[in-house]
Amino acid sequence: MSVFECKLVKTVDDSYNIEIGRSLVDTLVSEISGGVFGDYKKLAVITDSNVLPLYAEDITQKLCEKGIKAELFSFEAGEQSKTREVKAFIEDSMLACGLRRDCMVVAVGGGVVSDLAGFIAGTFGRGVPFVIYSTTLLSAADASIGGKTAVDTPLATNLIGLFNQPRKVYIDIDTWKTLSERHISCGLAETIKHALIADCDLFCYLEENIERVFSLDKEVCEHIAEANCRVKYQVVMKDERESSLREILNLGHTAGRAVETVSGYRLEHGEAVAIGLVAAALLSQDLGFTTADDVERVKNLIQRAKLPTEIPQYIDKNKLLKKLYTDKKVRNGKLRFVLQKGIGNVVYSDEQGAGYALPISESQIASVFERM
Ligand SMILES: NC(=O)c1ccc[n+]([C@@H]2O[C@H](COP(=O)([O-])OP(=O)(O)OC[C@H]3O[C@@H](n4cnc5c(N)ncnc54)[C@H](O)[C@@H]3O)[C@@H](O)[C@H]2O)c1
Repeated sequence: MSVFECKLVKTVDDSYNIEIGRSLVDTLVSEISGGVFGDYKKLAVITDSNVLPLYAEDITQKLCEKGIKAELFSFEAGEQSKTREVKAFIEDSMLACGLRRDCMVVAVGGGVVSDLAGFIAGTFGRGVPFVIYSTTLLSAADASIGGKTAVDTPLATNLIGLFNQPRKVYIDIDTWKTLSERHISCGLAETIKHALIADCDLFCYLEENIERVFSLDKEVCEHIAEANCRVKYQVVMKDERESSLREILNLGHTAGRAVETVSGYRLEHGEAVAIGLVAAALLSQDLGFTTADDVERVKNLIQRAKLPTEIPQYIDKNKLLKKLYTDKKVRNGKLRFVLQKGIGNVVYSDEQGAGYALPISESQIASVFERM
């Protein structure tokens, strides 16, 4: 017997820029055609059925006018499309169009598009580069930053995927004009989460200005887009692969993801996160980390963001409890929750290596669900 050592030490620089601005289509097109990301003459523009006529067709046409072979691939809008089947369908379509490993992917849309397109880019031809042109507040606040890509499975959301950093993210605030009020609210859920975990000033800013987000006030939209990037960047930079600190981004997502799945996706991701944030706040209060006043502030801000604070009646709470066990933070069969410490901070515990996700008994969270 012999052992051959395959020594392979890697130094990786995955740095990239996030440009926040207005009317960024021309910047995107000129940077791609100008070779900023490499000499790519074949592109796959991946989008969904809603964003297709709004932005993706225009972007594809402008790229073609610059002499680039840009092919457009779209799928039915909605979380139901974030599946292995849709991924395979797009990959097969890309192959049928002659795209190979010398192409680049441009994701045009919200979080569903960037999660799916980023995953495709990570595996197509064993990996091709991708950029994101972000068109939702939720994507600007969260999904487009941090390099997590994934598809859902029947068991739960985001179970199969890759860490894959984009080459650049374009956050075009002008695209929020065509978003429904419901989707502005969903973006605000992740924004409130960021304020709760790391930025008390952002929470106060939202308390003062949240209504101005709905009127797409330029200054307020740019302020929250930048604040979101800052919080997410600070957390992701310190823990790209979610071994510890990055878990704090999960505030509200343990119950939130379970509610989202059990609702059969009747609830949007941001709406489910809003419910999860209230559950986490109540749990934090029960365990003495947060005051009743802070819980009221959280609920009040969520309501002003036009988001739900209660579990809808059609949801079976026993099913919900069971679904919690599919959460990726579950360790040795024990539920673990990120908890808030006042506003702008989270609980950290050294006990039993808990870190930022504390073990919670089923009866503790069941008691919270009963009050919601
Ligand atoms: N990767 C991450 O780190 C991360 C973080 C948070 C959320 N996510 C994922 O993001 C997804 C939710 O993001 P989302 O809310 O952006 O979802 P989405 O992409 O489904 O967009 C929401 C809806 O808005 C439509 N839309 C998009 N842009 C529009 C525009 N400018 N005008 C009009 N309509 C527009 C879409 O077609 C869709 O119907 C979930 O799948 C979630 O798991 C990922």
